[in-house]
Amino acid sequence: MANSVEIRESNPCDLPAIKSLYLYAFPDEELLPLVMDLLQDATVTTSFIGTVGSSIVGHGIFTSCTVAGMTSNVALLGPLAVTPTWQEQGIGSAIIRNGLQKLGIEGVSHVYVLGDPAYYNRFGFVPEANVAPPYPLPTQWRGAWQSMSLGNAEPLRQSELSVPQPWMRPALWAP
Ligand SMILES: CC(C)(COP(=O)(O)OP(=O)(O)OC[C@H]1O[C@@H](n2cnc3c(N)ncnc32)[C@H](O)[C@@H]1OP(=O)(O)O)[C@@H](O)C(=O)NCCC(=O)NCCS
Repeated sequence: MANSVEIRESNPCDLPAIKSLYLYAFPDEELLPLVMDLLQDATVTTSFIGTVGSSIVGHGIFTSCTVAGMTSNVALLGPLAVTPTWQEQGIGSAIIRNGLQKLGIEGVSHVYVLGDPAYYNRFGFVPEANVAPPYPLPTQWRGAWQSMSLGNAEPLRQSELSVPQPWMRPALWAP
């Protein structure tokens, strides 16, 4: 990763710049309402940004979730976005690794993600079969539902991930 990039947790002052990142980099995506809703409630989200000088060039959120029957805390990773001119320079990876490290220290047992396995498997994510996402996924997306254990593991049961309200939008779970 370029030396000029700094990874840190975001704070409320970063909201306008995070909004600009999504509007500029992903104008056709419907992620911004989700991001704004998630960031309203810092008690359920851990949000990291990548900065270059005063510009935010990357952003990722980990949302606290629950799994019925599991006592440990779990988290859902997403959205994750890096502005196009700064992609493939390690910023997305650094945001994920910083987040995983923090969640591991806090005792989170598992992190779930819906995304391209070719990207997420490098962090240790593997296909998840026991804990279902909140909405059934289309067949072509099933391999994209993944999880990783942070070493605070308890046995996984057949269950379902319960997510906070901002994630309860079927469009977020379908092409
Ligand atoms: C996906 C994304 C967050 C990755 O962040 P990044 O900072 O560009 O990626 P990194 O520098 O950490 O990692 C680069 C590696 O990831 C791979 N990669 C990047 N985007 C990928 C994608 N969408 N699917 C699969 N692999 C991807 C690159 O080929 C590269 O692989 P290599 O290390 O084997 O050469 C960023 O490219 C992005 O915002 N893309 C558009 C939004 C998007 O697709 N989000 C969904 C994520 S699944």
